[in-house]
Amino acid sequence: MKVLVIGGGAREHALCRALTHDPDVTAVHCAPGNAGIAEVATLHQVDPLDPAAVTRLAADLGVRLAVVGPEAPLVNGVADALRAAGVDTFGPSAEAARLEGSKAFAKDVMAAAGVPTARSYVCSTPEQVDSALDAFGPPYVVKDDGLAAGKGVVVTEDQAAARAHAVSCARVVIEEYLDGPEVSLFAVTDGETVVPLQPAQDFKRAHDQDEGPNTGGMGAYSPLPWADPKLVDEVLHTVLQPTVDELRRRGTPFSGLLYAGLALTSRGVRVIEFNARFGDPETQVVLARLRTPLGGLLHAAATGNLAELPPLRWSSDAAVTVVLAARDYPATPRTGDPVQGLDQVAAEDAPHAWVLHAGTRRDEQGRVVSAGGRVLSVTATGADLSTARDRAYRALSRLHLDGAHHRTDIALAAARDEASGQSG
Ligand code: AMP
Ligand code: GLY
Repeated sequence: MKVLVIGGGAREHALCRALTHDPDVTAVHCAPGNAGIAEVATLHQVDPLDPAAVTRLAADLGVRLAVVGPEAPLVNGVADALRAAGVDTFGPSAEAARLEGSKAFAKDVMAAAGVPTARSYVCSTPEQVDSALDAFGPPYVVKDDGLAAGKGVVVTEDQAAARAHAVSCARVVIEEYLDGPEVSLFAVTDGETVVPLQPAQDFKRAHDQDEGPNTGGMGAYSPLPWADPKLVDEVLHTVLQPTVDELRRRGTPFSGLLYAGLALTSRGVRVIEFNARFGDPETQVVLARLRTPLGGLLHAAATGNLAELPPLRWSSDAAVTVVLAARDYPATPRTGDPVQGLDQVAAEDAPHAWVLHAGTRRDEQGRVVSAGGRVLSVTATGADLSTARDRAYRALSRLHLDGAHHRTDIALAAARDEASGQSG
């Protein structure tokens, strides 16, 4: 099976890498890709947001499966165009991807499906903003209604800052603050059958101890030794299946990857947000542990055959990924700086640790240089989280990128918990 992956981040690097490990996958193509993906897939300089161009590429290559990675092409109708052209496609329609593209739409679907989430108001005037902020009190949670790559959300004790963010957006969702640990749970679905993957935890804030601004995600780990083993089943029955059923009932079935961002509050599980695609960086750790061949799984979802798939197989290893971000990320990052040490990681740390590229490209001299805010992520596996964590940080220490920053506490608390025997 020939596969085309759309996108060019660390998530797509992880997807392409896992696809090359699937014995049924004969070739992996990627558009537009990046400097790291070029080592595992054939790259095509095609605009991922252009449905006609992507469809032409898929037809020219004669691919059996197309996988759309990021949200923007999905919201732009790239999966619809591919399907209309007869290509088996993993990724929801533009209509179903509104689950991610509009926070207000997601709230409406959750209300109809009886899915637990934060109470909220949709506001488009300063008066509505003020009364919503007063209704909930601090900490204030203000979300831009449109796509914002994880950066449109402000959580603050400061009412003036909350108000300033709200009035800078055309339409916002203001909601109740949810306390408790966050979990990302992905499910593969064909619009009917829902197959949950293993849960992961993401670190959204830029700096250690969850300080600094929200980012797209600075690191992740899986499994979660502290979580209730029944969590996945509970979320399948209270969140994932009802949401998929509701979208099918509306005549806009959701086929692809449904990502539930959850808060485990004292009053139970609540949905923080849905995404319509694999999460980044959680995908790096979830796929590091998946033993079922990825191409077959995604193709079964794309063709409505998930019900026939045997149960997924998982490695008992733990996985940790740490993001290396460019100077000034998540504000406008500096780009064009060389990344050094990649060869040392490949020589010293494989096969237990590896680099997945996000914002990288090759410059005129053939050097790998930074080309985005999140530049790469280092992923490692081990018998437990402590081992995986040590390997990831050891590999990261060999890399150099001028002005770069990363968190030093990814999976730290969970690894300590595991070490103290409180896990499970
Ligand atoms: P989102 O883009 O909706 O995932 O929000 C980004 C981050 O903001 C989440 O991962 C949470 O850390 C935080 N956040 C969002 N909504 C809430 C909420 N209702 N209560 C507390 N924190 C939230
Ligand atoms: N890890 C957060 C996201 O993918 O949106």
